[in-house]
Amino acid sequence: MERRTDRTGPDVDIVSHDVYAAGLPFAAYNRLRAEAPVAWTDLGPHNGHHGRGFWSLTRWADVVEVHKDWRTFSSEVGGTEIEDLDPDAIVARRTMLETDPPRHARLRQLVNPAFSKLAMERHATTAERLVSGLFAANVGVGEVDAVTALARELPIRMLVDILGVPHADAPQLFHWADQIVYNADPDHVADEVGDVSDRVDTDPFRLLPFRSPVSLKVFEHMERLAAARRTDPAADVITVLADAVVDGVPLTERERGTFLLLLLIAGNETTRHSLTHGLIALAEHPDQFDRLRAEPDLATSPLLDTAVEEVLRWACPQIHFRRTATVDTEIGGRPIRAGDKVVTWYVAANTDPAQFDDPYRFDLARTPNRHVTFGGGGPHLCLGQWMARLEVRVFLQALASSVSRIEVTGPVERVRSNFINGVKRCPVVLHPA
Ligand code: HEM
Repeated sequence: MERRTDRTGPDVDIVSHDVYAAGLPFAAYNRLRAEAPVAWTDLGPHNGHHGRGFWSLTRWADVVEVHKDWRTFSSEVGGTEIEDLDPDAIVARRTMLETDPPRHARLRQLVNPAFSKLAMERHATTAERLVSGLFAANVGVGEVDAVTALARELPIRMLVDILGVPHADAPQLFHWADQIVYNADPDHVADEVGDVSDRVDTDPFRLLPFRSPVSLKVFEHMERLAAARRTDPAADVITVLADAVVDGVPLTERERGTFLLLLLIAGNETTRHSLTHGLIALAEHPDQFDRLRAEPDLATSPLLDTAVEEVLRWACPQIHFRRTATVDTEIGGRPIRAGDKVVTWYVAANTDPAQFDDPYRFDLARTPNRHVTFGGGGPHLCLGQWMARLEVRVFLQALASSVSRIEVTGPVERVRSNFINGVKRCPVVLHPA
């Protein structure tokens, strides 16, 4: 049939979670980009709720084009995950991430001020103090796990402050968020649920984010937090969401719950992984680390600005998102049918030689550096980009001032996920400056 020949590409696996548990499949992305940059990834008939297949984009220019053209490539029609959802599940699971303009803009306006570049400046001193303390406690003490000892704390503390979640609630809330997003990783899945990502018998959970019943616990918690804020309002996101009205209609309980969950998931893990990947990259490229350390006044140096962007390009914690074509169209000369799923592989786009000179070189002074770590532009460009930049920035500063050498002392354990480029454990010894 016409569609089949059209859809043939090299036989590479860029989807299975096991591939990602071992490492990012750069060779496969390179082959796709060279031989079939708009490739039909066929999943075959037996692949749970992931549908038969989708288009994979590995070129930077295509990823950017699709993200900017939200009318042709909708986030709302089928959601942003590869999973095929029934219409009722699409509605039940929808957050602003899966909403097209113009409603998207009104939802985003609720939280934009709390995450703006200006707002982040107010958090800089707290972030610096926290990170300095973490390094003071973990440098020169022998082997530590970089994830738990260094990278985990900062994103959680910052989010908790901005959202207005009591510090005491944070461990439980973030534990639930991890269980929800890492529904394919045996270390994370909730005991009562198991791995739901590859299963077909999860119908009872299909209206819940990531098909995870753990979401219900987050929703209940959100209602308790919102009720508390209605009587005791504060300058935080929970207060805004508690009484939010959009298009004349108050947000529903479910909308408040999914909103909180979106922020918990999007703002925590991604940033944590960019810190860990940054640390590993600097351990593997001591010349670059020395360059950072050699800056006499790193805080005001242009090298710190470019270093933050290069760490983000290199780390690329979000592996992909999805859009759905709303009309028959084409990408790079390939016909795309209305209803087709289009997956934008950010990690592949960030290593596209047509956009990045010598893309596999880790170069802290790289410029220009138009990475798509936060998405390819358009309305959904990451809400938390300034928060992530601040966190990487203070982390690099503390690292450069307190450490002379980073030694990775054991195997780096990756998360089993084709969605988040995550590190679970990374044993390191930090030698004092
Ligand atoms: C290095 C860290 C981060 C990475 C790699 C990252 C990645 C992304 C990407 C790729 C998107 C675009 C989604 C799309 O186009 O469909 C996005 C959107 C989003 N991010 Fe981030 N993000 C990071 C940090 C954060 C932080 C700290 C927050 C804070 C809560 C956050 C909240 C969000 C939200 C709410 C959206 C949806 C925006 C919208 O739909 O308008 N992210 N992020």
